[in-house]
Order: sequence, then C-alpha cells, then structure tokens
Amino acid sequence: MIWMRWHIFLVILSGAVRSQVNPGVCRYPLGMTGGKIQDEDISASSQWSESTAARYGRLDFDDGDGAWCPDVVAEAKSLKEFLQIDLRTLHFVTLVGTQGRHADGMGNEFAQSYRIKYSRDGVRWVSWHDRNGGQVIDGNKNPYEVVLKDLEPPIIARFVRFMPVSDPSMTVCMRVELYGCEWLDGLVSYSAPVGQEMTFQNLHVYLNDTVYDGTVDHSMTEGLGQLTDGSWGLDNFTQSQVYGVWPGYDYVGWTNASFPSGSVEMVFEFDRVRNFTSMKVHCNNMYTSGVRAFQQAVCYFRSESDWEARPVSFKPEADNTNTSARFVTVALGHRMASAIKCRFAFSDAWMMFSEIAFQSGTAVYNTSLIPRKRGHPSAHPGGDPTHKIDDSNTRILIGCLVAIIAILLAIIVIILWRQVWQKMLEKTSRRMLDDELTARLSAHREAFAHRHSSISSDAESTSTYERVFLLGSDYQEPTQPLRKAPEFQATENLAVIDASPDEPPNNSTEEVPHYAEADIVNQQEAVSSPGYSVTAVPVPLPPGRDGALEEFPREKLTFKEKLGEGQFGEVHLCEANGMQDFMKEDEDGVENEPILVAVKTLREDATKNTRNDFLKEIRIMSRLRDPNIIRLLAVCVESDPLCMITEYMENGDLNKFLSRHKLQDSGEEQKDTSSTISYSTLIRMATQIASGMKYLSSLNFVHRDLATRNCLVGTNYTIKIADFGMSRNLYRGDYYRIQGRAVLPIRWMSWESILLGKFTMASDVWAFGVTLWETLTLCKEQPYSQLSDDQVIENTGEFFRDQNKQVYLPRPACCPDAVHSLMQSCWRRNAKERPSFQHIHSTLLQHQADLDMD
Ligand code: ADE
Repeated sequence: MIWMRWHIFLVILSGAVRSQVNPGVCRYPLGMTGGKIQDEDISASSQWSESTAARYGRLDFDDGDGAWCPDVVAEAKSLKEFLQIDLRTLHFVTLVGTQGRHADGMGNEFAQSYRIKYSRDGVRWVSWHDRNGGQVIDGNKNPYEVVLKDLEPPIIARFVRFMPVSDPSMTVCMRVELYGCEWLDGLVSYSAPVGQEMTFQNLHVYLNDTVYDGTVDHSMTEGLGQLTDGSWGLDNFTQSQVYGVWPGYDYVGWTNASFPSGSVEMVFEFDRVRNFTSMKVHCNNMYTSGVRAFQQAVCYFRSESDWEARPVSFKPEADNTNTSARFVTVALGHRMASAIKCRFAFSDAWMMFSEIAFQSGTAVYNTSLIPRKRGHPSAHPGGDPTHKIDDSNTRILIGCLVAIIAILLAIIVIILWRQVWQKMLEKTSRRMLDDELTARLSAHREAFAHRHSSISSDAESTSTYERVFLLGSDYQEPTQPLRKAPEFQATENLAVIDASPDEPPNNSTEEVPHYAEADIVNQQEAVSSPGYSVTAVPVPLPPGRDGALEEFPREKLTFKEKLGEGQFGEVHLCEANGMQDFMKEDEDGVENEPILVAVKTLREDATKNTRNDFLKEIRIMSRLRDPNIIRLLAVCVESDPLCMITEYMENGDLNKFLSRHKLQDSGEEQKDTSSTISYSTLIRMATQIASGMKYLSSLNFVHRDLATRNCLVGTNYTIKIADFGMSRNLYRGDYYRIQGRAVLPIRWMSWESILLGKFTMASDVWAFGVTLWETLTLCKEQPYSQLSDDQVIENTGEFFRDQNKQVYLPRPACCPDAVHSLMQSCWRRNAKERPSFQHIHSTLLQHQADLDMD
C-alpha cells in the first residue's frame, strides 16, 4: 500500500518535471520580494536620494523611503532612466509586477507606464515589445497597488531594466518584481534562415519568427524567438492558440524549393559548454498539405573554436498515418558543446517548427504537464503569480521533500516491520509450543499404544479422562483444536471431529453460543447426530422425563424484575400462578400460592441455530434432577418467545454473593453476621458444588464452565450449579475470545483444554479446583489477576512443559493444608492423577464434618 503510494508519488513527480519550459507554470517571483536578488544586483541610472536608491525598488518592501526614485533632474530624459536587475543567470521571464511609493501614506509617486529592456550578456540590449510591436506597458494608478503584466512574448534574459515613461510634471518611483524561472536550456541564441510565406487554400500563411529578438535580415542571427517561447503549434498550422493572430503564427517554416541543399541549417549557441543528451523539435506533420517533420537531422558540435568533424545523425521514422504535430527527439549522445549546428533535411515540400528545446546534464524544469494556452489573459494554470516559491530552488525543494517522505516511509516501514516481527515471534513461540506438544504427546501415545491395544477402547474405559463431548460447530471449529494441529487430534482419537456440514460456522459475537451452554446442548446430540463422528459412549441419562415436561400457560407468569442477560436472551424473575401442578413430585409447595421462578427467554431475533440450541438445552435440562443442579420446572415452547422456567435462587450467583461478604474471623464474636461468612459455610458451599458435579459426572456430563459465576445461591446457603451460559455477558472479563470463534474461560481451563481442545471430567475437576479457590478467597479477585490473558496461556504452556515454571493459584488465607492439597491435586498435569468428583465430594464432606465437630 505504502509502496503503491510512493510509486504514485514518483509518477506524479516525474510528471511534474519536464524537459521543456512551460510558461503557464514558470511564474515564480525571482527574488526582489523574497530577497534572493541581492542589493548589489539591483542598480539604477540615477537615484533621487540615498533613501530612494535602487535597492529600495523591491516590490512589497517599504524600506528606505519606500521605493526607487530616479533623480528628478533626470525626468526630462525619461527614456534613459531605468532600474536594472541582474538575475546572475539566464531566466525565462513571463510576468512583471510594479508598484509605486507609498511609504505608509507619505509617498504618492508611481509610474503610469514603463518599458522593458533586457539583455542576455549585458552588452546587447533588446527592447521588449508585444506581438503588435507595442513597447509601452501600462503601469500603476496609485502608489500602493501591485500591477502585474504578462510578458507576451516572454523573454529570456539575465539583465532586465524597468524604464519609467514619465510625465515630466510627475515624480516617478517604482518597486518591481520579475516572475519566471531559470532558463535551463542555456540557449543564448539560434540562427536560422528567415521563415517564409506560404499560400495555402487562398490563405497567406506567414511562417516567419515574429518575436525573434536578434538581427533579422536574410537570416536570423543572435536572437531567440518563437522557437523558445515555450508554446507549441497546433496540428493545423494555419490555426493558433493565440487570439487574433495571422495564419501560421505559431510556426517558423521553410519550403524545400528555396533550399537547393534540401536542408535548413540552424546554429544554436549556449551560455557555456554543456553535456547534451537530447534535442526536441516540435514539428508540424500535416503531410496531406505537403508539410512533414524533417527526414533527417545531422548535428555538429563545437565546444571551442571549430566544429567537430563527427556529427550526430538521426532519422525519425516517417509517419504517413498521423497528421498531428509532434515533438521529435534527437538523441545527442552526451556530446560536450557550447554550440550545435543542425541540418534538418526536408522530407516534403514544407518543414515547420514551433519549438526547439535542449536537454543537457540533469537540467529539467519543474512545471506541470498542461501546456499554457498562449495569449489568453485568463490562462494562468500556475495559480497566483505572486506565490513565493523560487524556481531556482525548486529542485532542492523537491529533493528535500523526497528525502522527508523517504524518511517518513522508512519510519513507517520500520514500525510495520516491528509489528510483523512481533507477531511472527509470537506465532513462532506458539508453534514451538505446539511442536513440542506434538512430539511429547506422540511419545506418550506410542508408549500408551504399547501398553494398550487400542487408544479408543482405553479412552472409553477410563472415567475421568476419556469422555469428550462436542464443541458446537458454532463456537469452535470442531476440526481444529484451539492450539493443536488437526492430525494430532485425529491420531489421539479422543476428541470429536467433523462438524455437521449443514451447520455453518457462526462468527458474530451474538452468534457465538456460550461455551458451556453449547456443551450441554451438544452432549445428547453428539451421540445421535449423523453429522458428527464421535468416540464416546452414550450418556446414561436418567429415564426420560423430558416428554413429561409440560407447557406452562405464559399468561400465568407475572414479570417482577430482570435477573440477568445472556447468550439466548434475558432472564426474568416472575411470579408463576399454579406452578404447583407442574412440580407434582415436590411436596413443599403451598397449594395455589403463586411462586417465584426464573424465566429464561429466547431473544426474538435469535437465529435458527440459537433457537435449536435453546430447545436442546431444554431437552437436556429436563433430564437433570439433583438437589445441587438448578431444576427446570416448565417451558413455554408452543409459541414465541420460547421460555424455560427454572427454580428461583434468592441470593443470585455465588460470585456476587461471596464478593459481598467478608470472612468471619473464627476467634471473634461477630456482630454483623449479614456481611460475613464463616469458613465452614464456605466449605459447605464447596461441598454442594462438588456434589452437583458428582451427579453430572455420574452422567458423564462435562460442564466446561464450572465457576462461582455459574453457581446460584438460594436460602440458607444452598448452592445449585446453574445456567449453562448466562454469565458470559455479566462476566465478560472471565472469557477469552479466540478470533471470531469460541469465548473461553481460560482462567478456569485445564492446560489440555486450552492446548488440545480436550474437555473431560478431569478438566471439570481442574475448574472445580479454581472454583474452590474462588470460594475460599470470597471472589475478591479474578484467578491469576496479575496475569494477562496471554500470560495465562503462556502459563498453560509451562504446565505442559512441566519444568516447574508453571504458576499456581496461591493458597487462600483461610485454607488449611488438607484443602490446599485437595485443591492442588485438581491441577495435576496428568489428568488421570486428578481426583474424581466422588473423591472430592467425600473429602470435603469429611472436612465439613470435622469442622462441625469443632
Ligand atoms: N438465573 C439468573 N439468576 C437466577 C436466579 N437468581 N435464580 C435462578 N436462575 C437464575
């Protein structure tokens, strides 16, 4: 992208420099105003006083007495008074500006008209005149306003004189500026036979050089004119871009009939010895009227006194198809010369040139690509002619600009490179981790395969490790474990592969189902859906009760308050009338009293996938029945919005509940028990979670998102594992989004879940260890709160590498050794060495009993 811009910039730049002066753009102030012209280069025929000397004749300057004013005595000899500027080198001058003496209101002198004289060598002076021969230029009407005048034709000069044409009764003062650009051709004069007259279709076509400023008799000598005025003729030589001129005005032309040699000889003199690369000759080619570009150019070079014998010869290709006027470029082969003599051979009856330009050394003009329309007063594509850029510095300016841009680009490239490099490093380290993992685990696998005839049969026979349930295709690509190459998973033969082809991956935030939610939904489907291949035994659910789950009349629900918001939609606290009929087995309901329930509603704009997942969750939840698992009471599925009605837990989620409490100091008598909680109560709560998990594990359910945020607290510190997905929005910070795919509770996840995408009872045990830690720290901080998500994942790598570099959650302040070692056993690297929920539950139960005894 950047390089493309750079390229475009260079193209623009190369378009903005060209080998021929463009009068439309060559209109830069040459330095009277900007100070580039030194005081010593400004002189005058006379001065009225020291304070009105020539150096005060700078346009827009008020120094001295505010302008140059000639000696009054000299008034009468007005033609002789002048203000002279030495530009030091040849310049192409297109515009002049004049101003009178204002001197902050003290002066009132100005030149109503003036003439211009110029010289290239300081010896031969030429009076400028316009195309009609007029020499006097209208000047100022007041002492302060700047009056600009286009020089038509422009002049090529080193010395320029402003000569006020004064009314003898008026004192004259002037401030001036010249506008143009440096004349890089270095051409001082060309000599050529005088242009001729042609009669064409009853028209007199004058092909002479009307603005030639040298001597004109038989031939033109020592001057410059139309061939160097920067504008070229039209395709039709009888027409001109200049308004009101005669046919043939743009061209200097000759007829073959007048030149027995068959060629026209021109001599070009230059300011110094130059190294010539090319000459461009703008030729008419109206061959249908007997006019063609030259047939051959033979050029001789002179750097000292004599013409060199070895000429350069060039034959352009004859063009009989195109009548457009064109530049013909003659390569001059880097010949050194201060003069060039070229013989242009006729290829037809007439030969007409409108412009000749020379390129030597590195000289190029900074000018636009659009040629100026000559003679039209409004044609100033260069914009404001008083702009302050000095053309002689243009190349330096461009150089500086290019350098600055190059530096900026370099900086951008370095920054981008650093970013790319960082990303590559990150990727490499992850890949290294993966490679190491693959190597390590394939070694394990081989050893394992040695001992067991089949991994899959082994996987099926062990209770804590092998049960792997599906990740929904919506939130994690089943073929891709989180950080592992697919072939690894395939050979391990433990995970669920192949997504159902008719369930497209779902990447939007809204579409990504919650981790655990999708999990529970998929457990049942995994074994039945033909779209999945799975290495898992069917889930031995309790006898189907879902068929018995009845539709609850939604009009009997009275909204009370919003409890939360999750993946599927909102959860509301409602009063349900007549719910007792739906809870037949529950003895404790008071007949006909409305009861409080939690109603989870599916968003109206839910996609088909989400709706299906919601229904699947209903089917699964309807089969779960345990005192420590939230109970689904009824559903509203016959009409939209779909609802599931669960029991209501008065004290909300365990995370919030505990973070509102402080640990009760065992030594002291506590006054305010509402905000404190005893250690033994914490253990009671943890025991209940273990009990609920023991139930799920008995069904081979893998929860995948066990955490305090997913446990609900009822009265009397009752805990139920609940909501398989409601907490994501509330506890956004606990989840880590893998680009557009799953949202993962990485701080609760086992290393193999993160690195291999493997979810088992053993990974639920890991999460239980973290949940126990949360409980005993009263959820005062997030697990590994001092680590960033990336660092948590790096730590997972350390668990895998097993070089004792892994970081564990610290021991909670209130946690006795026995509980701490139970907690730590949940984080054993080898999943098989982690305790079962059965064991955890009984250990905690025993601990609770011990505490109750004390
Ligand atoms: N879901 C969110 N909050 C709940 C609560 N207090 N009881 C039951 N389910 C819920």
